[in-house]
Amino acid sequence: MTDVFPESTWTPARPDCPHPQRWSATDADSTETEVTALVAALVVALQPDYVVETGTCVGNTAEAIGRALLRNGQGQLVTLEVDPVRAEQSRRRCDGLPVTVLGRSSLDWMPELPVDFAFFDSDPVARPLEFRRYLPWMHDRTVVGFHDTGPQHPVRELLAPLEHEGLLVSPLYLPTPRGVCFARAGAR
Ligand SMILES: C[S@@+](CC[C@H](N)C(=O)[O-])C[C@H]1O[C@@H](n2cnc3c(N)ncnc32)[C@H](O)[C@@H]1O
Repeated sequence: MTDVFPESTWTPARPDCPHPQRWSATDADSTETEVTALVAALVVALQPDYVVETGTCVGNTAEAIGRALLRNGQGQLVTLEVDPVRAEQSRRRCDGLPVTVLGRSSLDWMPELPVDFAFFDSDPVARPLEFRRYLPWMHDRTVVGFHDTGPQHPVRELLAPLEHEGLLVSPLYLPTPRGVCFARAGAR
């Protein structure tokens, strides 16, 4: 079990998240433990067949999604990571789970099946581009998540054009330390 630290180590208190110490994370790059658990819970709630994660990092959320899919009894995750060391580490920890870790950029990869659930968590600037790229594989039941939508990050601002174009609909921005948004895919 990897050590976890209070999220306040990395994220200061702010009006819409006054107690960041109530969350935890293994490091500055990995998703808050509680948000990873929420993503995995959505995978259980939504019962997807094909899940995509961009930005595997050290595999915290990939492993949680993989365990959720295993529990579901169907479905697979494809997760993409440009750092070869991180990709290999994640591959090892996801061994035996329905998870494929691809050591390549999200921006030169295309889904091979309809995307039921996606968690966008790579380079902040790449996330809206990834969404546009994968949009043709999304459908009426697709749910997407974007990490780091808090006001200290550029992601929410970068998502605004997608909302204005009607491509990202019913977004729910949650006041977690780094911020996270879940939404539906719009017109395709
Ligand atoms: C914020 S971390 C991901 C955290 C992880 N999803 C989690 O839940 O713990 C971002 C990761 O994305 C990787 N990355 C950045 N740009 C990428 C891209 N275009 N394709 C794939 N990985 C990328 C970085 O190397 C880094 O490991």
